[in-house]
Amino acid sequence: MLSTVQAKLLIVDDLPENLLALEALIKREDRQVFKALSADEALSLLLEHEFAMAILDVQMPGMNGFELAELMRGTEKTKNIPIVFVSAAGRELNYAFKGYESGAVDFLHKPLDIHAVKSKVNIFVDLYRQSKAMKQQVEALERSRREQELLLTRLQATQAELEQAVRMRDDFMSIVAHEVRTPLNGLILETQLRKMHLARDNAAAFTLDKMHAMVDRDERQIQSLIRLIEDMLDVSRIRTGKLSIRPARFDLAQLVRNLVENFAQQVAAAGSSMQLDAVGPVEGHWDEFRIEQVVTNLLTNALRYGAKSPVDVRVYSEHGEARVEVRDRGIGISEDNQKRIFQQFERVSASQVAAGLGLGLFISEQIVSAHGGTIEVESQIGEGALFRVCLPLEAAQ
Ligand SMILES: Nc1ncnc2c1ncn2[C@@H]1O[C@H](COP(=O)(O)OP(=O)(O)OP(=O)(O)O)[C@@H](O)[C@H]1O
Ligand SMILES: [Mg+2]
Repeated sequence: MLSTVQAKLLIVDDLPENLLALEALIKREDRQVFKALSADEALSLLLEHEFAMAILDVQMPGMNGFELAELMRGTEKTKNIPIVFVSAAGRELNYAFKGYESGAVDFLHKPLDIHAVKSKVNIFVDLYRQSKAMKQQVEALERSRREQELLLTRLQATQAELEQAVRMRDDFMSIVAHEVRTPLNGLILETQLRKMHLARDNAAAFTLDKMHAMVDRDERQIQSLIRLIEDMLDVSRIRTGKLSIRPARFDLAQLVRNLVENFAQQVAAAGSSMQLDAVGPVEGHWDEFRIEQVVTNLLTNALRYGAKSPVDVRVYSEHGEARVEVRDRGIGISEDNQKRIFQQFERVSASQVAAGLGLGLFISEQIVSAHGGTIEVESQIGEGALFRVCLPLEAAQ
């Protein structure tokens, strides 16, 4: 591993033959030797490369080896490069560079002792390799620490999502239990009442009129149970990507007209009114049953959250789209909540008095987008809401 690190060596001497001789001594396959004939040349090489060590001739015309060393010590990039001075003078010269005591500085004397040169270079190159390898290890450690940190944040995010999912499931269970119990309670009470009348042979409780009313009540309770179950099935179909669309040609205006008529009783019960504006047929290729489901939810919502205000329904075509708009003048929806309400089980707390499962808009949006269309809401709190469904007039792919 250590030997894979290429070491660059700089040798500086004003005599080319000295450079060649020195190069021959220290050259090896895993080393690259750079030669400079002057301090200037050396400086430009120093700025360009990262050297494991520099061997400087002390006596050079112009800038000498000591001066070059001084410059190197003053520069961030080069200040840690070990320097070996080569001088012809005696040992007393050593005192001339006290300033470098702290850095790695060594001396070679001419004539060069081959063994001394080789062993000094070996030591410095090994040191260089070791510190290089250490640096790489530190970097690798730092990298893996960062990766771990990233992983940890991802894990924490996943955990938060899971917790949210569990909370949602718990909420869902309690909402479902509550919603199922309401119609079931109605049915059970009715049954007990009838049992009581039967036990008393009370034929007057079972006249044809009363039977009609009973069957109507039963039917409503059963319908609401079926709707609940259908909605839950739709959610699981959506989750597993099995919500199927069976398109056929039909007139959207006519569908909405029929729906509004069928809603007459509920409109009256809500103390509201409903106007329809639909001129001419608006024909397209959609799943009639599913689109009915979408519009039914919008109408139900407008009555539920419309605070008895009149509801305006419009069907028209524009920009290659068929559009249905349902507008009420009720409690409205804040901008924040406008995004939330299209998610499953999302109900705005202020409107929970008239609680549904909070599935209607979620299912509606999935149905509409499966048709290549969109559903949008325009609203301000206290000013009512306008829901708009847009469906492509051309058959969706
Ligand atoms: N016209 C509206 N005005 C004000 N708030 C609305 C309106 N329509 C929907 N909302 C808000 O959006 C929430 C989600 O609506 P959605 O139709 O998905 O569920 P829901 O009506 O509560 O229950 P479900 O449709 O499953 O019976 C509602 O609970 C209500 O808070
Ligand atoms: Mg609804």
